[in-house]
Amino acid sequence: MRLAVVGKGGSGKSVVAATLARLLARRGHRVLALDSDTLPGLSISLGADVPDDAPLNAAAERNEKGRWHLVKGVGPARAVQRYATDAPDGVRLLQLGKTDKRGLAPNRASHNAFYQVIHRLGDVRSLDDWVILGDLPAGPRQTAFDWAPYARRFLLVVEPTWQSMLTARRIIRIAREQRDDAEFSLVVNKVTPEADVQRAEQFLGVPLLGTVPADDDVRAAERAGVALLDLAPDAPAVHAIERLADALDVRNIDRL
Ligand SMILES: Nc1ncnc2c1ncn2[C@@H]1O[C@H](COP(=O)(O)OP(=O)(O)OP(=O)(O)O)[C@@H](O)[C@H]1O
Ligand SMILES: [Mg+2]
Repeated sequence: MRLAVVGKGGSGKSVVAATLARLLARRGHRVLALDSDTLPGLSISLGADVPDDAPLNAAAERNEKGRWHLVKGVGPARAVQRYATDAPDGVRLLQLGKTDKRGLAPNRASHNAFYQVIHRLGDVRSLDDWVILGDLPAGPRQTAFDWAPYARRFLLVVEPTWQSMLTARRIIRIAREQRDDAEFSLVVNKVTPEADVQRAEQFLGVPLLGTVPADDDVRAAERAGVALLDLAPDAPAVHAIERLADALDVRNIDRL
């Protein structure tokens, strides 16, 4: 399972990605979560620590021509082994690094390392049976610049609003231009009784994986700065994300 979670800003990508990662890990999958956002959304939603400095900063250096490369002795397998950190339920988390008041500059090495590692994950045989699940920042930019080369399936997290659907459509077009083998699944999030889920499905032309209800527990977890699974394990949104995990199961995904 190789997934990239994409969509408009605030559509719920990080909550869905993090909860899904932990639920899949609880089912016995080994899960590598990839956070290519410079905001700490995924780590907070996972309930993982946000390190002050990106661990991957140690993985890349510049040669005399100014070009970045992974440090000697570190290939993609070792980078994941050494620089991914532990998150709850046994999820391993590889992070790009956060922007703080010093700006982006302190994380340039980690950005370069991250980009090189994700482009070579396909060579890492020991990850063959892992779930790889990336949480991308808002909008189409990272998709356009090939920040999810590992993904076989793009999980579009969409609110049932026009703006959210238009952004998702743009992302689908960009991803299809670059990758003719990519698959797409739709998750409609923050669904209320009046929401028109079918409209989103028809508008995007992408099969619906499932819906997640608008749920105050999600907002409460956000306010408390903890993972939804830890604050409200029985929340309706958690049960809905369990059903997404069921639908993604290798035995069921072929039916999509
Ligand atoms: N099902 C839901 N019910 C209620 N609130 C939700 C739901 N899903 C997400 N939210 C809220 O929406 C906001 C955005 O969620 P989240 O950070 O997961 O989105 P995101 O797409 O990762 O955002 P960003 O684009 O900033 O990375 C948060 O305040 C979160 O609590
Ligand atoms: Mg996010």
